[in-house]
Amino acid sequence: MCGIVGYIGYREAYPILIKGLKRLEYRGYDSAGIMLYCGDDLAVTKTKGKVSDLEQKSHALAKSKAKIGIGHTRWATHGVPNDVNSHPHVSNSGKIALIHNGIIENYDSIKRELTKRGYVFHSDTDTEVLVNLIEDVKIKENVKLGKAVQIALQKVIGAYAIAVFDLDKPNELVVAKLGSPLAIGIGEDEFFIASDATPFIEFTNNALYLEDGEMAIVRLGREVRVRKIQDDVHVHNPEIQELELNLEQIEKGGYEHFMLKEIFEQPNAVRDTLRGRLQAEQGVVKMSSIDDYLEKFVRADRILIIACGTSWHAGLVAEYLFEDLARIPVEVEYASEFRYRNPVITSRDVVIAISQSGETADTLAAIKLAKERGAFVYGVCNVVGSSIARETHTGAYTHAGPEIGVASTKAFTTQLTVLSLIAAKMARAIGTISQSEFIAFLSALDQVPSKIETVLKTEESIKKIAEVYKDATNFLYLGRGYNFPVALEGALKLKEISYIHAEGYPAAEMKHGPIALIDEHMPVVVIAPKRGHYEKIVSNVQEIKARKGKIIAIVSKGDTDIANLADHVVEIPDIHEALTPMVTTVPLQILSYYIAVMRGCNVDQPRNLAKSVTVE
Ligand code: AGP
Repeated sequence: MCGIVGYIGYREAYPILIKGLKRLEYRGYDSAGIMLYCGDDLAVTKTKGKVSDLEQKSHALAKSKAKIGIGHTRWATHGVPNDVNSHPHVSNSGKIALIHNGIIENYDSIKRELTKRGYVFHSDTDTEVLVNLIEDVKIKENVKLGKAVQIALQKVIGAYAIAVFDLDKPNELVVAKLGSPLAIGIGEDEFFIASDATPFIEFTNNALYLEDGEMAIVRLGREVRVRKIQDDVHVHNPEIQELELNLEQIEKGGYEHFMLKEIFEQPNAVRDTLRGRLQAEQGVVKMSSIDDYLEKFVRADRILIIACGTSWHAGLVAEYLFEDLARIPVEVEYASEFRYRNPVITSRDVVIAISQSGETADTLAAIKLAKERGAFVYGVCNVVGSSIARETHTGAYTHAGPEIGVASTKAFTTQLTVLSLIAAKMARAIGTISQSEFIAFLSALDQVPSKIETVLKTEESIKKIAEVYKDATNFLYLGRGYNFPVALEGALKLKEISYIHAEGYPAAEMKHGPIALIDEHMPVVVIAPKRGHYEKIVSNVQEIKARKGKIIAIVSKGDTDIANLADHVVEIPDIHEALTPMVTTVPLQILSYYIAVMRGCNVDQPRNLAKSVTVE
């Protein structure tokens, strides 16, 4: 996620902004920039790279005595990481500077309109469109910055946290929020703007958090004035909180670990990944990367999915999705095996490479091999401009935001979100699902964030289960159909952060050997939603029960058959069978997290592991 900072007060702004940007580095970013008001002009320095690179390039600004400015760390969503695409963006007149965290969905249509009116764009970003829209409104309506921002935002669809400066009103900053966080630090004769309190907590612990749909004019010498963007209603006496969090707690959003924060970010991460792509009621999936190559997908002899680890598990779910919905043969391969086994690849193959980091060496090598042998390669990545994103012919980004915890959580659910969109779009194009089935699927997909929110409410009951089994030496995870890959994923989560040995299996596979492992010391997690081969898994559970296995069952709300057999039950809301993995995986993430914490493990940086495996 991008980071925004701003300052207006009696101190020199530059060091405050630079230090503030460093405080936001934990959010993950690929470029940084700063704007200062230097007397009669505004000065901007911005660069691809780190805040330290920005410091190297902004010596002139460092010497300025400017007391008002804004700064930004960019996590690219539209436009690759480079200097031009970095923020702040300045309007054509050179008078208005803006920083933005979020996504403007309708920037394309606004850009076309402004281009017709003579505006020129230098970057590929949605943000540059927004700053020129504000300028256009200011000129056309002959209004001041605050009103121009308000009118412009009423034309915008998307998510934003913005700070705007105008040379014509150099004693104020205008800020607005919808879907992305924005805090105003209130000091003695000074104000701070930031994505969270980390940049200003050392100066003041008085913070005003804008609500969605609110904007504010921050001007020295008077109270912060908050108003509603849509209906221009003033917000009287906005709540000013006295913060008691320390720096580290703020970075983790108040959670003890990044992993837990990222588990709880999943509803919004899925929403952000669907944003601008899914119009469920209209039965529309907008994905230019698919539209431009739809023939290749529709005519593909087979789809080859290559990935590693959790991303490989997402690929396994995609195998069920694509074959079930679009009736296209799918093979899922470990990238590390694929790259060395002299695979048979033809130009009629579509390869999908899945990677959160976009830097996994095995996956990158496998992509190069597939391309050398004529395949079309599509990427699903979480890091814009990453090596894998650049190596593939095209692709789609998950908008999960930076995933700091080594154990992948929100990356998995957002990968499944993108793969579900693609499978449905292909199936509709091929005609293997009807329009009504298509709309029903899309409607169910649209509900996934709220379904995940429901499951997150079972955290305390899962924590109690973790307490019972934290000293186990082995675990088995069982699932069928769409939830077999979830069994593998649940086992991986437990292994990599608690160091307990765990295996995932298709539930029916137990009788072919693993059932010999079952006794009263073996916890068995069974993923058994009502959808799919429910009655089959009931008998699998009975087999385990008969051998005294300890059963932890993930079941649909209201289930009684399995619930009566299990030792522990976690209920999930009902959802379309093909989408159950995005919901059933969440209790397994929480279970592994609390077992690891109770075992005193380093949850965010487990031993022997790296977040991105950039070597063989
Ligand atoms: C999953 O929790 C692990 N961190 C690991 O298996 C990871 O999924 C794998 O290394 C692939 O990483 P990528 O998605 O960044 O390519």
